[in-house]
Amino acid sequence: MRATANPFKPTAGGEPPLLIGRSKIIRDFEKGLDNGVGAPGRIMLITGPRGTGKTVLLTVFGDKARDRKWDVIEETASEGLCERLVNELRNKDRLLDRLSIRPSISLSGASISLGEAELSPKRMPETLRNAMSERLDLLGKHHAGLLISIDETQAAQRSDLIALATAIQHQIRERRDIAIVFAGLPQMVSDLFNDDVITFLRRAKTNVLTDIPIADVQDALGRTFRTSGMTISEDQLHTAAQATEGYPYMIQLVGYHIWDVADMRDSDIVSDRDVHDGLAEARIDLDNAVCIPELHGLSRNDRAYLEAMAQSDTPSATSDIARRMGKTNNYAATYRKRLLDAYVIKETERGEVDFAVPFLREYLQRQR
Ligand SMILES: Nc1ncnc2c1ncn2[C@@H]1O[C@H](COP(=O)(O)OP(=O)(O)OP(=O)(O)O)[C@@H](O)[C@H]1O
Ligand SMILES: [Mg+2]
Repeated sequence: MRATANPFKPTAGGEPPLLIGRSKIIRDFEKGLDNGVGAPGRIMLITGPRGTGKTVLLTVFGDKARDRKWDVIEETASEGLCERLVNELRNKDRLLDRLSIRPSISLSGASISLGEAELSPKRMPETLRNAMSERLDLLGKHHAGLLISIDETQAAQRSDLIALATAIQHQIRERRDIAIVFAGLPQMVSDLFNDDVITFLRRAKTNVLTDIPIADVQDALGRTFRTSGMTISEDQLHTAAQATEGYPYMIQLVGYHIWDVADMRDSDIVSDRDVHDGLAEARIDLDNAVCIPELHGLSRNDRAYLEAMAQSDTPSATSDIARRMGKTNNYAATYRKRLLDAYVIKETERGEVDFAVPFLREYLQRQR
């Protein structure tokens, strides 16, 4: 019998039916928790382009920590980050709930309201540090640790990161059971962590979420289709897996749309036509969610540079791009730098440039 609900999850942060290709990083994180204070996995940086699975991974990390009876605070970087952290750290209701303790005395007020002075930018590092220490004191009595995860770190304010880094560093020096994970777009490393004040975070290992091997994609797609009661051939799976290029968001889109097209025919056997139509739908969604927004903020000349790059199916040298644009090398170098800074393109080991945004080359080629 075919399941009624589509098992694929092509939504931001949506947990996929099978989390492919991330077992090593999850293991590293778990080792960090289990190996005690000072273990390398206790401070982690996770980067990768949009749609590579950073948010999903933070959710998994949170679950792994909760499995070990750790307390977990999950935040997204935006204005007021430290203030929100302080409030969560001081929320006693949440803590007691977490530790499954029924309060023997009634606590007046779940969270202590803070004076404005405490939350002033100048006092924030100290306020955050104290709130963290108090929380860790309480948790320590129950042999529980604290995980803090920060998503979209590239959007953090520098002052917030400094306060947070200083507070964490203090706790680690005091040998407290704490772990922190920062996830964000690749620019977070160069923009925020290459900063003298945050040197201690610079020593943390950066995990870059890379493409998933096609064979693993094929295997996972096959298992998900079959578990949901759909029959699909290895040839069809191969075509579908190839089309994803190992990009996590595209894996979900491709699976979702092929499943959906077959489902609309009321069939539990996927046809070649379903694969073809599903892939076309997936590409439209991908263009709208990734390529079009990425190009939106760029100037006409930036785009001309990218179009010149897209004339080749492989990385290009700046001199070749300049020639294709009919411009000087100097002119092209200006746009090269702008696009590198925006992480739309990346430099290869040979000094050539390639697209950093998944499927942008194909999109531009189709627009021609
Ligand atoms: N390891 C994986 N295997 C299969 N699918 C995945 C994997 N990781 C993420 N996905 C899917 O990819 C999509 C994007 O995941 P997620 O929102 O976590 O990415 P992100 O890196 O946080 O993106 P953004 O930078 O836009 O916030 C989701 O649909 C999710 O289900
Ligand atoms: Mg995300």
